[in-house]
Amino acid sequence: MAFGTPLMPGYPGRATRARRFALSAVVAGAFVYGIAAAQAGERGEAVFKRNCSICHSLDPGKNRVGPSLAGVVGRPAGSAFGFHYSSANAGSGIIWTEDKLDDYLADPQRMVPGTLMVFPGLKNPDDRQALIKFLEEDAAN
Ligand code: HEC
Repeated sequence: MAFGTPLMPGYPGRATRARRFALSAVVAGAFVYGIAAAQAGERGEAVFKRNCSICHSLDPGKNRVGPSLAGVVGRPAGSAFGFHYSSANAGSGIIWTEDKLDDYLADPQRMVPGTLMVFPGLKNPDDRQALIKFLEEDAAN
């Protein structure tokens, strides 16, 4: 039994304990990281449900009051199939990168004056970041 072999007389099982400790530290680290990532995803999803889902779906091609947001991160403004945009939005020339979404979601009317999106904006930057990550992850799944 190699694992149980004492390295030094008088300290039986020392190597085993050290290995167990190292292993449990790695497992614990992975676990904590997993929880943090899951919490960010849950926060983003909660922000979406509370603020956006009344008007937006995440199903491709399913437009509501607002266009489908499936795959919105990285796509040009005004490009959801079958949605009738305002000229303000359609003609904005914006590509919805993470940064542009962050600006827009803080105050849609400021970035796209005349937009039909009646939404005052998400003032909490952490909420916006969690939401944008969630939109990206949703598209990747
Ligand atoms: C009251 C309904 C409503 C709510 C709430 C709302 N939106 Fe919108 N959204 C719209 C409408 C309508 C448009 C189309 C705007 C236009 O054509 O001027 C739009 C457009 C957009 C666009 C531009 C899409 C494109 O294809 O160019 C993005 C991005 C967006 N919304 C994200 C969000 C997010 C994220 C939330 C939640 C924080 C949200 N919206 C909340 C109605 C809404």
